[in-house]
Amino acid sequence: MKPCLIFTLLSTAGVALAKDSKDDDLNLPEDFTIPYMVYLQSRSEPCVGSLIHPEWVLTAAHCPLPVKIRLGVYQPSIRNKKEQIRNYSLIIPAPEFKAQSLENDLMLMKLSKPAVLNSHVGTIAISMEPLTFNDSCFIPTWTWNEYKNFSDPDILTWINQPSQPFDECRNMVGQRMAVHIMCVGQPLNIISKVKEVSAAPAICDGRLHGILSWDKGSVTLGSEGFFTEVHPYAKWIMKTINTH
Ligand SMILES: *[C@@H]1O[C@H](CO)[C@@H](O)[C@H](O)[C@H]1NC(C)=O
Ligand SMILES: *[C@@H]1O[C@H](CO)[C@@H](O)[C@H](O)[C@H]1NC(C)=O
Ligand SMILES: *[C@@H]1O[C@H](CO)[C@@H](O)[C@H](O)[C@H]1NC(C)=O
Repeated sequence: MKPCLIFTLLSTAGVALAKDSKDDDLNLPEDFTIPYMVYLQSRSEPCVGSLIHPEWVLTAAHCPLPVKIRLGVYQPSIRNKKEQIRNYSLIIPAPEFKAQSLENDLMLMKLSKPAVLNSHVGTIAISMEPLTFNDSCFIPTWTWNEYKNFSDPDILTWINQPSQPFDECRNMVGQRMAVHIMCVGQPLNIISKVKEVSAAPAICDGRLHGILSWDKGSVTLGSEGFFTEVHPYAKWIMKTINTH
């Protein structure tokens, strides 16, 4: 990705940026993080996790098991001293997750040791209710400047997108199952497809509303993205956290 592109994306993310960082300008401090973003490092395909509780990470069930869970990460390709490294002690996919159709594509991961919450690591509240029409969502993930097998991504990026109305979303999903799915983006023909880390969160109205399940291109460049909605699973999430 070219630097100018990053700055375009940053400027479109102005509102969310002001919320997440104390700096109003776009010169991010060196140790800038989005505190609830967790890097799920893996031998095959890394994923983004979302810290919803000091001991629990929510991600997509299609993600491989991580070899390392890293909190407080800005650039996964670089280790920083403030980073917290964990393993998982428990993995619980949503009941009736179907790997082929990606129905119920959510997974809870209990950390081997609770996260230490500070200015670099923090939790995000899950949504308990559906989105109101045309709410804007903040969608962050990591991408590779130059993708190499088994390398860690080096760029933190994001986009602000409104969620598509229900009927529009159903058309976008097409033949696939559309239960508990929310859609963002447009059909785009982007030639240089940027590779993004899977399972990006959608933060709408200050809460975690969705986890990216699949996409048609690069969501952070505006392509269509399909998210598992979080609110229908809120009871399952609370119950799991309370009983384990
Ligand atoms: C992490 O935990 C899993 C399951 O408890 C275990 O199989 C694995 O060896 C652990 N990994 C590390 C690096 O400790
Ligand atoms: C949705 O919101 C965006 C920006 O907030 C606005 O440009 C757009 O017109 C809205 N769409 C509808 C259908 O209201
Ligand atoms: C990268 O991985 C893919 C799939 O595992 C493989 O087909 C390809 O040859 C690998 N490329 C390199 C440069 O290792």
